[in-house]
Amino acid sequence: MKLYDVYPLFDINIVKGKGCQVWDEKGDEYLDLYGGHAVISIGHAHPHYVEMISNQVAQLGFYSNSVINKLQQELADRLGELSGYDDYQFFLINSGAEANENALKLASFYNGRTRILVQEKAFHGRTSLAVEATHNPKIIAPINANGHVAYLPMNDLPAWEAELAKGDVCAVMIECIQGVGGIRLVTPEFMQGLRELCDKYDTVLICDEIQCGYGRSGKFFAHQHTGVRPDIITVAKGIGNGFPMGGVLISPKFVPVYGQLGTTFGGSHLACAAGIAVLDVMKQDNLVENAAKVGAYLMEELKKFPQIKEVRGQGLMIGMEFEEPIKDIRRKLLFEKKVFTGVSGTNVIRLLPPLCLSMEEAEEFLKRFKEVL
Ligand SMILES: Cc1ncc(COP(=O)(O)O)c(C=O)c1O
Repeated sequence: MKLYDVYPLFDINIVKGKGCQVWDEKGDEYLDLYGGHAVISIGHAHPHYVEMISNQVAQLGFYSNSVINKLQQELADRLGELSGYDDYQFFLINSGAEANENALKLASFYNGRTRILVQEKAFHGRTSLAVEATHNPKIIAPINANGHVAYLPMNDLPAWEAELAKGDVCAVMIECIQGVGGIRLVTPEFMQGLRELCDKYDTVLICDEIQCGYGRSGKFFAHQHTGVRPDIITVAKGIGNGFPMGGVLISPKFVPVYGQLGTTFGGSHLACAAGIAVLDVMKQDNLVENAAKVGAYLMEELKKFPQIKEVRGQGLMIGMEFEEPIKDIRRKLLFEKKVFTGVSGTNVIRLLPPLCLSMEEAEEFLKRFKEVL
């Protein structure tokens, strides 16, 4: 059977990882400034993570959500403590799109409405309503184009107010740092204004922290740079360091109803072991602070390159916009200098390294990058 060919692939077979390094089958070593698309948070093959998952799978990998799973509560407790949201409730699923589907569903159950507002260039996933909330007509199939969503300019509060004032908006869903959209940041003023408007019109404020959250921005959540508390926060990617997991943090104003949400695999024993190991390492190794420190240094140094039109970002979520398409730079970085990076559109290189990236590794990246430009 052939694989369904939807990914344009680099001809590289990665077989091993450690920290911020990965190796291909020929034994060539690469510096990972991409983190497998912002997924690797605590670094590849962290010993504590390997041990926790190995022990758990040897004990019990899965049972169903029809019985008590104490690991779910342990994960929720650790997350509440580290993120500052210990008064919220936690629901576990398996991916980012699924987290957003559940968040939007909860919002609609809450206020009975069906209209959603998102930012222009938003990316919220590839399933049903999550893909409709994604501002890319090429990936919205006719069956998903159901007229629920308006796409509004980022940081243009009057444009959002005009829609919210109609009184029929179920939820606004915001990426405080847009990932796929090219590392664009909301302003604190916009978020504070939006928070007030959502309260005024009984609209649910959802922050999609799937890419920008979990320490990546140099605070636990990117919205914590703006001084607001959303009603719902969605997480995935870094929460399992590669183990497929998603989560929804839900404010106390939502009252759970038996059977309203559910999943077979979400919150399995094995997933929780992975999630707990990630939070253990984030706390022990101060990875949120590390992301802030190393990210600030990288941004400062990158701003000195005259070839780059603009450097944007926060923590270890950095975008470098060029006047010209970056395809060649990125290929050279990968094949000649052995550095993985991400991309956004045609002109933006995205850096999404593991949060344990050291100052020395940042220096090494800058050195190789300079040689390519
Ligand atoms: C901001 C954001 N939301 C949602 C998603 C979808 O997550 P997943 O691919 O796990 O469904 C992504 C994935 O890139 C993302 O970056």
